[in-house]
Amino acid sequence: MFDRLCIVGVGLIGGSVARAARHYGLSKSIVGYGRQEDLQNLETAKRLGVIDDYYLQIEQALHGADCVVIATPVASIESIFELLKPFWTEHAIYTDVGSTKGSVVTAAQRVFGTVPDNLVPAHPVAGAEQSGVDASVVDLFVNKRLIITPLGHTRTEALHKIQGFWEHCGSVVSMMDVNHHDAVLAATSHLPHILAFALVDMLGHKDEQSEIFKYAAGGFRDFTRIASSDPVMWRDICSANKNEIIPLLELTKEQLDKIQRLLENDDSKQLLTLFAYANTARQRFLNQFEGNMSKSITFKVQPGGVLQGEARVPGDKSMSHRSVMLGSLADGITHVKGFLEAEDALATLQAFRDMGVEIEGPVNGCLTIHGVGKQGLKAPKNELYLGNSGTSMRLLSGLLAGQSFNSVLTGDKSLSGRPMKRVTEPLALMGADIKTTEKGTAPLYITGKAGQLKGIDYVMPMASAQVKSCLLLAGMYAEGETSVTEPAPTRDHTERMLSGFSYPVKKQGSKAGITAEGHLTATDIDVPSDISSAAFFLVGASIAPGSDLLLKHVGINPTRTGVIDILGLMGANIEVLNERIVGGEPVADLHVVYSPLKGIDIPEYLVPLAIDEFPVLFVAAACAEGQTRLSGAEELRVKESDRIQVMADGLQLLGVDAQPTADGMIIQGGSIGGGVVTSHGDHRIAMSFSIAGLRANAPITILDCANVNTSFPEFKDLVKRLGLALVCTES
Ligand code: S3P
Repeated sequence: MFDRLCIVGVGLIGGSVARAARHYGLSKSIVGYGRQEDLQNLETAKRLGVIDDYYLQIEQALHGADCVVIATPVASIESIFELLKPFWTEHAIYTDVGSTKGSVVTAAQRVFGTVPDNLVPAHPVAGAEQSGVDASVVDLFVNKRLIITPLGHTRTEALHKIQGFWEHCGSVVSMMDVNHHDAVLAATSHLPHILAFALVDMLGHKDEQSEIFKYAAGGFRDFTRIASSDPVMWRDICSANKNEIIPLLELTKEQLDKIQRLLENDDSKQLLTLFAYANTARQRFLNQFEGNMSKSITFKVQPGGVLQGEARVPGDKSMSHRSVMLGSLADGITHVKGFLEAEDALATLQAFRDMGVEIEGPVNGCLTIHGVGKQGLKAPKNELYLGNSGTSMRLLSGLLAGQSFNSVLTGDKSLSGRPMKRVTEPLALMGADIKTTEKGTAPLYITGKAGQLKGIDYVMPMASAQVKSCLLLAGMYAEGETSVTEPAPTRDHTERMLSGFSYPVKKQGSKAGITAEGHLTATDIDVPSDISSAAFFLVGASIAPGSDLLLKHVGINPTRTGVIDILGLMGANIEVLNERIVGGEPVADLHVVYSPLKGIDIPEYLVPLAIDEFPVLFVAAACAEGQTRLSGAEELRVKESDRIQVMADGLQLLGVDAQPTADGMIIQGGSIGGGVVTSHGDHRIAMSFSIAGLRANAPITILDCANVNTSFPEFKDLVKRLGLALVCTES
């Protein structure tokens, strides 16, 4: 890539750049420059092989260099430019690693008159508490963000080369305007450093300092870790970016005053709301922005085990989404109990907060939603990030099509690959304006068409509750009636919950209709346990000899109970006890006891009623005597993963005779072996292979399990408590 890379300032960052450049073969030779007082450090750098050679004369260091990386503290940047100016050449590319970019650009303007077009300002968002070349490492930038802040006239080829350089070093590169960079970093890096320094300074000066530090535990250490960073560097960074930092300090003071008042007034409710908001917001940001950089989670299950005891699995995902959607659009305050505190439902919750809805919680599954009315949503300031959740994206596309504002819906890698035309095409017939990628996938760019949507009479080509719900929600904003006919019954939580909010829905056989004539009146919602989460235990207890399990308060809406029926046909022993209606939805306790299973041909009418449970039903089939055949389930190919292929691959790897077909699978029951399988980031696949461990004859390792958090964060703890030896590791 380069012939000679010159690093000006071979410290932690400069040294790490040099190490990475050498490791990835990005330059034929690498030299360093430093001042007389840096001599020892430069000698160390050479001895460690970080650089090939060093110079104390800048002219010599720059000789023949086609790339110059300035890695000195931000306060020194102007003097470095002065030093470089006499030797500045058209043939080289110059870049820097400063944490503030406005100061770099201003310094260049002062020295050169205008910023040279071959200077590419950049900032690797990476560092460590230690400094000096001894602390440099080859992988400092791997999976870290690198922000380039080009100017209008920055040379394109220089920009591309620097971008490529950092990508080779493993960084995730993004481009940003200089001022925007400084504003963002002031909030995400500079302010936290100031707060950490301030806290340690304050506590350190208190009389009882030794006592305080003696008992300083995790919280203090976590919060103040960054106060161990180089004080000179941070003085310089904060001074260089003070214009962005000072207003943030003002806001911080106001926030602390607010918390002080809440404490003085014993307002524990508001305090909890504030803390709970911060808690979910932090998790959401980590998911959204660090999803692809985050640690990978692996489950390892030991063979055997018996599921015994009693459990209440978390709240129903479909109903949790809908409770937030309808509660937000209602007039009045909606209280929700049993809300699923998992990433998918939290993505929906955050989307409505982003559209101006005040939602308290979740705390122990309870939410208080201050509904804004059907016309009360506000334009979100940013894209609405919906993580892994197809339900959020498809339902929201209908709801947002008829608003008076525009919106953009995005999601993670899996969601961004899932088909959205199934909703955008019928919505377009209603007059909606939604742009997808060429492949018909997210991001969805929605132009709000308030007052312009027209009702349609739509016959769905596939049995999809998401498509049906999307159109019904759009129908709440359309002229005339919107009706949807389904080819087979699908979950009807939208229709039931709309009625619960007193919004009229017309049901006629397989057709559901809605108009804009109506409004939602706030109500209380009690979300039962999710039968889709209970399914793992229904199968687990059915296949593990000696199991006896009671699953409490499970939603048994007839559009969801296919798993009970299919297991029943296979010979499972499941009793439905204590049936009752809670908030318009049937609920029961499910008692399941081990029973030998036999293979069956799964009736096609049960497919939509068990659509999310097939991964674990395939495990049941692998343990059954004889053959199990599934057909008519092509929808499984477009779920969070291609569940037919991914399950067939995994089962085959475990020694099961599982043959995928276009619309299902043929499985010969037998024994399950051990091995390493991957969930392809699909929560239900990860949990299904964990359950397979109960009947396996060797350990099963399941890779890529982080997404279990989208629907069932408690899974690993609960399954362990009930009797499966599962170990979860992060790497
Ligand atoms: C859901 C509907 C189903 C299901 C999904 C949740 C819903 O999807 O697979 O997990 O809440 O409406 P389809 O509508 O694509 O079948």
